[in-house]
Amino acid sequence: MSKSTNITWHDAAITKESRRKQNGHGSFVLWFTGLSGSGKSTVANAVAKELFDKNIKNYVLDGDNVRHGLNKDLGFSDEDRTENIRRIGEVANLFVDAGQVVLTAFISPFKADRELVRSLLDEGEFIEVYVKCPVAECEKRDPKGLYEKARKGLIKDFTGIDSPYEEPEQSELVIETDSSSIEECVEQVIQYLKGKELI
Ligand code: PPS
Repeated sequence: MSKSTNITWHDAAITKESRRKQNGHGSFVLWFTGLSGSGKSTVANAVAKELFDKNIKNYVLDGDNVRHGLNKDLGFSDEDRTENIRRIGEVANLFVDAGQVVLTAFISPFKADRELVRSLLDEGEFIEVYVKCPVAECEKRDPKGLYEKARKGLIKDFTGIDSPYEEPEQSELVIETDSSSIEECVEQVIQYLKGKELI
């Protein structure tokens, strides 16, 4: 629900379409979702580098980083995660409007939240990439030692341990980081984008 009243929408002087034309490429969201330690940030950043090298304007929004600033008032309750994803969705939409490719790396555990972001964007602008990796493998990797802490009860509401992750059922793309290399996952994303003539 909006608390703002007496506000008026202003149409921008420069449209999304003219920005895209000037950039020479489309603008859309690559929404990476998956468990902590599944490889979201690693793959998103590697794809971003590939795009950058092809002169495609892009920016990565990453869970840990955004929680240091814009969303530092939010924790990991279900309600806070929902608000986290809503805000990121709005920011991602602004980037798309600005003619950029935006890559997001958030657990985004709830289907309804991911669908809300999809609904903010125009048809074809939201590409969900499910970074699939069994929780046992993520726990084995445990790059930040968070699974260990969660198992010891030092972190509550940890995704995959005592907080749910709702698996995507109809992602545009599924990448499996336990059976494919990072390079293979990146290639899969790039091939998808080429196939759709987005890059
Ligand atoms: S969410 O669910 O989308 O709102 O989470 P996100 O903003 O992506 O933040 C996930 C990163 O926060 C760290 N962290 C936790 N993750 C899950 N559950 C709990 N309780 C938690 N506490 C801290 C963790 O480093 C996550 O980073 P990634 O990159 O996913 O490992």
